[in-house]
Amino acid sequence: MIFDTHAHYDDEQFNDDRDSMLSSMKEEGVGLIVNIGASLESSEESIKLAKNYDFVYAAVGVHPDNVGELEVGGNFDRLCNLARQDKVVTIGEIGLDYHWMEQPKEVQAKWFKQQLSLARELGKPVNIHSRDAAEDTLKIIQRERAGDMGGIIHCFSYSVELALEYVKMGFCIGIGGVVTFKNAKKLKEVVNAIPLERLVLETDCPYLAPEPNRGKRNSSLYLSYVANTIATIKNVTVDEVIETTWKNGKNVYRIEG
Ligand code: NI
Repeated sequence: MIFDTHAHYDDEQFNDDRDSMLSSMKEEGVGLIVNIGASLESSEESIKLAKNYDFVYAAVGVHPDNVGELEVGGNFDRLCNLARQDKVVTIGEIGLDYHWMEQPKEVQAKWFKQQLSLARELGKPVNIHSRDAAEDTLKIIQRERAGDMGGIIHCFSYSVELALEYVKMGFCIGIGGVVTFKNAKKLKEVVNAIPLERLVLETDCPYLAPEPNRGKRNSSLYLSYVANTIATIKNVTVDEVIETTWKNGKNVYRIEG
């Protein structure tokens, strides 16, 4: 079965067919989904989805674009409480985003560290978002020894060397639709260089649909295209990719059964 380790089914793009789509997942071969928080509200929605569907788990965290909503002692306590709820398997997505610069660098760094501390306190792995911020992300992860908690570097967009560095620290690398794009030379090299035992599948849906559906609304149902591309790069069967990434996802999020 396919494990989608990073999805956003709380997104309004699923408002018209969320239930029918999620209800069809198992028969389409998708056996586990982690719905990722990107704000306080979407963290709450993720927990709701996990309550409603046995194969959905939740992530609680605030994306670097949205950390302006957090306040020490105020709603950060609310986030901490959410993170303690049942079926919350990871803190994320958290990190740094210097592409849009919705928040100043210092503010992003502050809340990234706070949320890493929360993960440490709860003994949970992390789901890392890092865009155009390779150096600072690595620095913070090393200084905070986030490798102790482990987790996933989501939508990995950096070099082979950096991917190997994260794997050495104990992280998995999240691979999604981008790997199917014709111009994704660097990411294909990363997939080639990293052992299959350290790769996980993810959609980031509704965004980043793989070829041949690039530009459309993405969903976990399209992950077979990603698995296919990985199988071609690594010269293994698609089944092997699906089975191994399933195990990897369960290991990294510590989901039993
Ligand atoms: Ni995401």
